[in-house]
Amino acid sequence: MRILLALLALLAPLAAQDFVGLYLTWSADPATTMTVNWVDLRTTSSLDVHYRRIGSQEWQLAKGTKFAISDTTLQGRRVQLTALSPDSNYEFMIGKKIEKAGEGWRFRTMPRDLNRPVHFVAGGDMMHTRARLDKMNAVVGSLDPDFAVLSGDLAYANGVSSARWADWLKSWMQHSVGADGRLIPMVVGIGNHEVRGGYKGKIPEDAPFYYSLFQTPGGKSYFANDFADYLSILALDTDHTEPIKGPQAAWLEQALAARTNKQFQFVTYHYPAYGTTKAPKEGGGPLDAARSIEIRKEWMPHWEKYGVTAVLEHDHHNYKRTHPLRGHKRDDANGILYLGDGAYAVNTRTVPSKEEGWWLAKAEGRNHVWSFRLRADGTALIQAVDIEGKVFDKVELKTPRTKPVGAPKVVSSGGN
Ligand SMILES: [Fe+2]
Ligand SMILES: [Fe+2]
Repeated sequence: MRILLALLALLAPLAAQDFVGLYLTWSADPATTMTVNWVDLRTTSSLDVHYRRIGSQEWQLAKGTKFAISDTTLQGRRVQLTALSPDSNYEFMIGKKIEKAGEGWRFRTMPRDLNRPVHFVAGGDMMHTRARLDKMNAVVGSLDPDFAVLSGDLAYANGVSSARWADWLKSWMQHSVGADGRLIPMVVGIGNHEVRGGYKGKIPEDAPFYYSLFQTPGGKSYFANDFADYLSILALDTDHTEPIKGPQAAWLEQALAARTNKQFQFVTYHYPAYGTTKAPKEGGGPLDAARSIEIRKEWMPHWEKYGVTAVLEHDHHNYKRTHPLRGHKRDDANGILYLGDGAYAVNTRTVPSKEEGWWLAKAEGRNHVWSFRLRADGTALIQAVDIEGKVFDKVELKTPRTKPVGAPKVVSSGGN
């Protein structure tokens, strides 16, 4: 018996780290909070997160709570760590303190201001095969961004396959790891492949994994992630579980109006207004799709009015960068870039010819992530990075947002 207990004691630390997934999200201030989420297959595993700022001798303890993941036996746990120091590195472990080098995980909180450039990556349409997802996740790890914005069609589980979610979570935990074992927090939007039937799904039953795995600010599939006064990201739901028109459109206008003081402002969603494929069956091109028309009618006037840095689009499984657009026309003086088109690691499609695609500056079927480096002077470097880690497109933004038109003047912090 004593030998058995000794053996169990030896196995305990390994068992405690026997995760299906471990991932970081935010539902409050990213400078001072971090939500640690983990999934395992054990009903009695520890809820304790031991953490400390790197360099500190003092360990702190936070108790997680359990959450159900649809009707599966997967065991979800999470805890929001609070009162953290901005722009600081932390180490943590679940079930016990870190005792030797190589154990545990790290995270970094966001800065209070752009005293250093902030770097994030964005993509969507992630996993057709695990092998290709692993490869792109490793590219993201090597880019070592502050965080990643993932806007739908993540595991292609269609609201049903828990095994695909387990694969997706595991791949992120193993491969999207920055320098020194630092996990990269994610901001997660919804796409059609999170939802049974793809569109007009009921909340939460048609998208049970999305609504259980990811705790967004406010708990909805449309939400704002605000980073002090230097950055805001608005994520929207392109009719997967929330209609484009109505309360979501009203929220978008109010959210933009309330954020004129944010230096950089991004909008991200899954189905594109300026796509590269999926022409309607009745004829026409990608811009003629009913959902694209609705986005341009219900949402676009709001971000054109208040001014944004860029709009991130997905779903069409290509790479694309549009010309600067305003009022459904090319506008090189004050147009908005639409960057997409959702090809993180899925099979790609064909793009319109130069003659057909008047809105496209550049497009091709190529796996990629977008990388954004935001600087205090209001400039930004935007790059497209392919699955081999190669930068194949680059734009320098000279101003953080397009000029507002018919909206209150944008007040920027950080000297611009
Ligand atoms: Fe997709
Ligand atoms: Fe999609």
